[in-house]
Amino acid sequence: MEIQIIGVIGAGAMGSGIAQVSIEAGYTVFLQDINENALLKAKAGIEKNFNKMVGKGKMTEAEMTTALAHLVCTTNLLTACKDADLIIESVFENLEIKQDMFREFERLCRPETILASNTSALPITEIGSVIKRKDKVIGLLRPWSMSNKSARKQPWQLIMPVLLSAAC
Ligand SMILES: NC(=O)c1ccc[n+]([C@@H]2O[C@H](COP(=O)([O-])OP(=O)(O)OC[C@H]3O[C@@H](n4cnc5c(N)ncnc54)[C@H](O)[C@@H]3O)[C@@H](O)[C@H]2O)c1
Repeated sequence: MEIQIIGVIGAGAMGSGIAQVSIEAGYTVFLQDINENALLKAKAGIEKNFNKMVGKGKMTEAEMTTALAHLVCTTNLLTACKDADLIIESVFENLEIKQDMFREFERLCRPETILASNTSALPITEIGSVIKRKDKVIGLLRPWSMSNKSARKQPWQLIMPVLLSAAC
């Protein structure tokens, strides 16, 4: 399955960064958070970062406009889940909250959607243990922290075979 649409759940420090590199790479991102202020802050931060990149000649105005057009911010979880090819959960580092999120993903996402957690320390097998679709659950490491520009442009192709660990 080709990934085109990504639902990023949680618009904090990590979620907003993931959304930023994903729209920069051409993906459509639905960035969801229960907190409207977090979404406003995330969008403003992404715009600020892109403006800096334009100022430094690392991105054109047109590229910035195109990337921003690929970002949809929403508090509605169904909106973020229903068309997503890939979900990246990046909410608080709490097992119960993450397990609840994955129960919701199973209810709201299409059967083929890949369900990823951006947890830094929790066992991905525990997070995925509460749903039936365990073969769709993966853990992410951080390609977005890489300095190499071409690696950042194709994060999924780069990390899928190497760094993602299946939870089944
Ligand atoms: N993979 C890594 O290398 C790495 C590095 C740092 C952090 N992390 C992980 O990324 C995750 C997010 O970390 P952060 O620093 O961005 O946290 P943060 O506190 O900055 O942001 C978390 C966001 O999740 C939102 N949220 C909480 N419950 C929610 C829900 N039910 N639905 C939607 N949104 C919800 C909050 O409103 C907040 O905006 C954590 O699990 C953290 O451990 C991973």
